[in-house]
Amino acid sequence: MDANVEDSGDDSAGSFMSRYVSDRIRSSVRDSEMFSFLREMARDELGWVHQLLHQSTEFTQALSARAALPSDGVAYRAMTAQHAREEVGLPADLRVWMAIVGISVDAGARRTAMTPETMTLVAHNWYVAQRLPPSEQVVAMNLVSEYAALDFFTEAIVALRRCGFPLSKFWRVHRDADEVHAQMGTELICDGASLMDARDRVSSLVDLARHTANLYRAALDSWVRVARIRP
Ligand SMILES: [Fe+2]
Repeated sequence: MDANVEDSGDDSAGSFMSRYVSDRIRSSVRDSEMFSFLREMARDELGWVHQLLHQSTEFTQALSARAALPSDGVAYRAMTAQHAREEVGLPADLRVWMAIVGISVDAGARRTAMTPETMTLVAHNWYVAQRLPPSEQVVAMNLVSEYAALDFFTEAIVALRRCGFPLSKFWRVHRDADEVHAQMGTELICDGASLMDARDRVSSLVDLARHTANLYRAALDSWVRVARIRP
């Protein structure tokens, strides 16, 4: 077991996981070269937006699938339904912004295809949503995913503003929503009554958090590779 897990003492498994993701895992996603790329991004380097559209579309669908599947716990069911509802307009809002800045969405074009790394991340989130127990879903889909989205959106907004692009509802609203969704995950996993299974699963939750973060970092790295492809 990870030394830090053992050091968690009589602290609850949930609050340990929440702290572990926000202190350690979050920064490992930020190590992606996409974050340094955004700080230097030029106006014609928006090829990565197609990857964001794929990720947003599939993540939103996976959230809806999670909410539709039967699960124990009233609080958990309420959270998954609320989360799915609040994300449902995300891909449509991104398409509106793409149209405003002149990026066409052509699903058949090679330049818009998912990178293998984006595809692996998407497949992982679908698997988590449909097959893993609630505590693992909260770690991967709320804590790791929403902190990754929050940090990515924060950096991307600065880059887009510097390049002179207008910031539509997609950018303004969803960054704040991601912060709320990460907080939802923290509240749920710290509430032992709704996620009882977390207590005996800290090692596997840590493994899942690391694995999910690695997939986000790899996917984001791949977005740099396609950034200069004409959007
Ligand atoms: Fe979100």
